[in-house]
Amino acid sequence: MASKTPIPIRVRRMDYAIPPMPRYWYRDNAWITHYMNALSTTFPDGERFFIDSVRNFQDQIKDPKLQKDIRAFIGQEANHGKEHEAFNQALIDQHQLPLAKKIQFVKNALKFAKKRYSDRERLAMTVGFEHFTAILANLMLEQADVIENIDGMVGDLFMWHAVEETEHKSVAFDVFQEVDGDYWLRVRGMVQATFFFMLVTLRMQHSLLKHDGKRSDWRAALGFAKFMLFKPGMITRIIPEYLDFYRPSFHPWQHDNRHLLKARVADLKANELAQVA
Ligand SMILES: [Fe+2]
Ligand SMILES: [Fe+2]
Repeated sequence: MASKTPIPIRVRRMDYAIPPMPRYWYRDNAWITHYMNALSTTFPDGERFFIDSVRNFQDQIKDPKLQKDIRAFIGQEANHGKEHEAFNQALIDQHQLPLAKKIQFVKNALKFAKKRYSDRERLAMTVGFEHFTAILANLMLEQADVIENIDGMVGDLFMWHAVEETEHKSVAFDVFQEVDGDYWLRVRGMVQATFFFMLVTLRMQHSLLKHDGKRSDWRAALGFAKFMLFKPGMITRIIPEYLDFYRPSFHPWQHDNRHLLKARVADLKANELAQVA
């Protein structure tokens, strides 16, 4: 199978200057802020795990277009890791959030996964995680007002990540189809990815709320419930696209959302250092 990515995948080197941020940078809501902080905390090591999982199979890929897309995928994920690492460090420096321990927990969990699962199992999990990030990214692109204008660069950072997750959303999938293609392995990878994603982000959010004494902030909790269930509906609105993944004939670009990228790509220029691919 060849690359099925219908658009160029651009590696943008970004340079977000992180200003002093309010502790609850997401509209003064501790629950949503710490959920987004938990996501950001898992990104750098998670994305290195995705890069390694795809790289393991890179030399088996014959299609030159897919080879090129893999290089761009690796470039994008490496940059996401770098920018989110800086963001996470700012959360530690500015607000003394206990993220170092959490980052270590993610590192240990991924180290365990490397030992416990074979190369093809880790590629299948990566395909699952990538679909997850793609449908969450799509939600952000569709409802840009949810993240736009959130304390300056924080909204920009998450939007840039959403754009690039969309651009490269089928790279790991196409590699998996080329080198393996086992439907049930793909299903199992998705179930594992879903389980780990939910468990790690919600546990980490809970722990950060506990650290801040904000677990009983009911106004924030209600805001978070609305965020997850209605607007943007981080759980509910992704269900149809999530379930589509389980169709044997599924491909990520069957959800063609190229039109959502156009408006966003122009906005990224402001923080771009140089276009390298
Ligand atoms: Fe990423
Ligand atoms: Fe990705």
